[in-house]
Amino acid sequence: MLVVDLGGQYSQLIARRVRECRVYSELVPHTVTPEQVRARNPHALILSGGPASVYADGAPHVDPVLFSLGIPTLGICYGMQLMALDLGGRVDRTGVSEFGKTELRAEEAGSELFRDLPPEQTVWMSHRDSVVAPPVGAHVVAGSPSTPIAAFEDSSARVYGVQFHPEVVHTPSGMELLKNFLYNVAAAPPAWTPAAVIEEQVERIRTQVGRERVLCALSGGVDSAVAALLVHKAVGDQLTCVFVDHGLLRKNEAAQVVETFGGHFHVPLVHIEAQDRFITKLADVDDPEQKRKIVGEEFIRVFEEEAGRLGDVRFLVQGTLYSDVIESGGTENAETIKSHHNVGGLPADMRMELVEPLRLLFKDEVRRVGEELGLPERMVWRQPFPGPGLAIRIIGSVTAERLETLREADAILQEEVRRAGMYRELWQSFCVLPAIRSVGVQGDSRTYGYPVVLRAVTSEDAMTADWARLPYDLIETISSRIVNEIPAVNRVVLDVTSKPPATIEWE
Ligand code: XMP
Repeated sequence: MLVVDLGGQYSQLIARRVRECRVYSELVPHTVTPEQVRARNPHALILSGGPASVYADGAPHVDPVLFSLGIPTLGICYGMQLMALDLGGRVDRTGVSEFGKTELRAEEAGSELFRDLPPEQTVWMSHRDSVVAPPVGAHVVAGSPSTPIAAFEDSSARVYGVQFHPEVVHTPSGMELLKNFLYNVAAAPPAWTPAAVIEEQVERIRTQVGRERVLCALSGGVDSAVAALLVHKAVGDQLTCVFVDHGLLRKNEAAQVVETFGGHFHVPLVHIEAQDRFITKLADVDDPEQKRKIVGEEFIRVFEEEAGRLGDVRFLVQGTLYSDVIESGGTENAETIKSHHNVGGLPADMRMELVEPLRLLFKDEVRRVGEELGLPERMVWRQPFPGPGLAIRIIGSVTAERLETLREADAILQEEVRRAGMYRELWQSFCVLPAIRSVGVQGDSRTYGYPVVLRAVTSEDAMTADWARLPYDLIETISSRIVNEIPAVNRVVLDVTSKPPATIEWE
């Protein structure tokens, strides 16, 4: 399935929803030519939503020849209007805009899109212009009070349009409509499963790598873990994984990486215990950006030294995701990947060819592939964790003692959040150690100890976030455990700020 991207905010979401229906989909730019489409031989096309008016200056268009290739095509919102415009219908500024939930009525018993769907349903609309005449030969199959032509079909020309957004959750029957289009209209089989992904990627990796050796840096995160396991499945011990333990991970995480990869999966693993090197470099450094720079540079240095020791290795695994590929503006071109997307910030001048087994996957698909490969639940569902790790959660200078304090407090928070069954619904949850002390009282004596900040947020993509409303009982348990079990801490506070204006991390 190809999703022709007309600039709408939901284009990526459409591609993801199609994949949730187990049909492989890719985003292509609206400048895609009929020849390119034909060469891909897709089961179907979907034209995404887009900017306000098809008549606006610079409004994106597609080559109308796309509509005569005989490929079933579904236009959504702007995509529907573009179809109407190109195929002899009419689009007008009707003076009525529709934003939000709308009651929709399916008007034709024989409709392919609305087959087995409730005749009346709520859908999500967001448009100003409206289709006032469907394409020649198409008939109207659904309408709403302010948008009489909310959906059309022409089964002989194989063109279909909906004004509303079936891809968003506010259209409860949206997935069913997409399935009707994919399975019934386009006859696309629901064959895109984690097992199929693994099989296909293993084949690709074998073809690319041949008998050469491959290197992979493990970070403890799900992306590098899944990428490594895919490569190991494909070429076995031609892969060497390098795990640089910078001493800034959470409690037990380093041990888990070693146990999982070295112990359980028998992946050749070089575990570099570089904690002292990082702590020494970070001594007396307060500035957050400086900390990031130091951790990043030291990581590269350690990694390069190790790579040098391993001798001639031609390939390097990188956990680039499909969303990185899309954001970098190319589905074909590996060179356009922004450097900040590179796993672990590996050296730009390393003369190795990249193996990118996650290049076609969204994050949730990486997790499902991880589960299928048998990666432990803790690794598959780990919350995002910054590369510089605990170093940017200790305000002021990072010392072994302060690291230990934060690590213990954080472990208590993790344990209790998991016990409360809230781990997966939180985007991130962690502790921060500020560089201040406050007075407390314990037994008969006064203490002068550190406070610990609890930070838990919900988010979709880390661009914005809200502070999580953790239950009071949970906060109480975490707080009393931290002050009772960690002598250096005598106070626990809760961060109740959203992003913006705050950021998720404190540094
Ligand atoms: P902020 O704090 O800017 O964070 O709201 C947004 C997301 O990015 C993560 N983050 C980092 N990840 N290296 C990383 O790999 C970093 O230096 C870094 N700083 C922030 C943060 O955890 C959150 O998910």
